[in-house]
Amino acid sequence: MKRLGIFGTSGMAREAGDIAYEMGYTPIYIARDQTELDTWHFHAEAILEADVLRYRDIPFIIGIGENLIRQQLVQRYERQINFFNLIHPSATFGREQRSLIEKLQGIIVCAGVRFTNNIKVGNFCIFNQNVTIAHDVIVEDFVHVAPGSIISGNVHIGLRSWIGAGTVINQGENNRKLHIGADTIIGSGTVVVKPCEANAVYAGVPAKRIK
Ligand SMILES: CC(C)(COP(=O)(O)OP(=O)(O)OC[C@H]1O[C@@H](n2cnc3c(N)ncnc32)[C@H](O)[C@@H]1OP(=O)(O)O)[C@@H](O)C(=O)NCCC(=O)NCCS
Repeated sequence: MKRLGIFGTSGMAREAGDIAYEMGYTPIYIARDQTELDTWHFHAEAILEADVLRYRDIPFIIGIGENLIRQQLVQRYERQINFFNLIHPSATFGREQRSLIEKLQGIIVCAGVRFTNNIKVGNFCIFNQNVTIAHDVIVEDFVHVAPGSIISGNVHIGLRSWIGAGTVINQGENNRKLHIGADTIIGSGTVVVKPCEANAVYAGVPAKRIK
């Protein structure tokens, strides 16, 4: 039996677990503490994070949507455990794009995701169900793109940004990508037509800075 450790016990972790099963792995979920472990009531093994290094011979993924928590876990465990990429079999890729994605660490690509081509992706990103990422996009580390979002060509998404469900980001230009700053949140259903500053929250159609 091939086993995969999944940090987290929430809905995102169980969705990651579903992809693991599709890829032929049996997930072991990792609860932060005893309280979290006590609330686990699914038919799959769950362990305490304190025991994680006893399983260091299996690969791991972080099934936690919160970008900063994923980064903190990587800082805690890098060089001690191996992180894996979870790629749902229904995800599709442009020419040469799949091999670029497979070289990364810790990324989750959910069902129905489409990457076209010449896309540079950082490590530990989550691309949720039915996301489309078009040509010449750059996605930095620890980004989460929520379900159904469409990222048009020539967009640059900064470190740890969170793109809410059903967002549309309009295309940038070849030599001037449309930039979403680091640590920025884009609300669900937003249409982004201009660059977005770092450390901000944008929402609406067209997007306006709300925080
Ligand atoms: C944008 C978001 C992060 C803001 O959350 P928040 O900081 O708690 O903000 P609030 O709920 O206080 O809303 C602030 C204002 O923005 C408006 N607003 C919030 N989200 C909005 C959205 N997605 N689109 C348009 N307006 C929105 C609110 O109506 C409110 O307006 P008001 O001041 O006129 O009443 C949140 O609403 C959101 O969209 N999250 C993404 C959810 C998602 O995609 N989940 C996917 C999980 S995988």
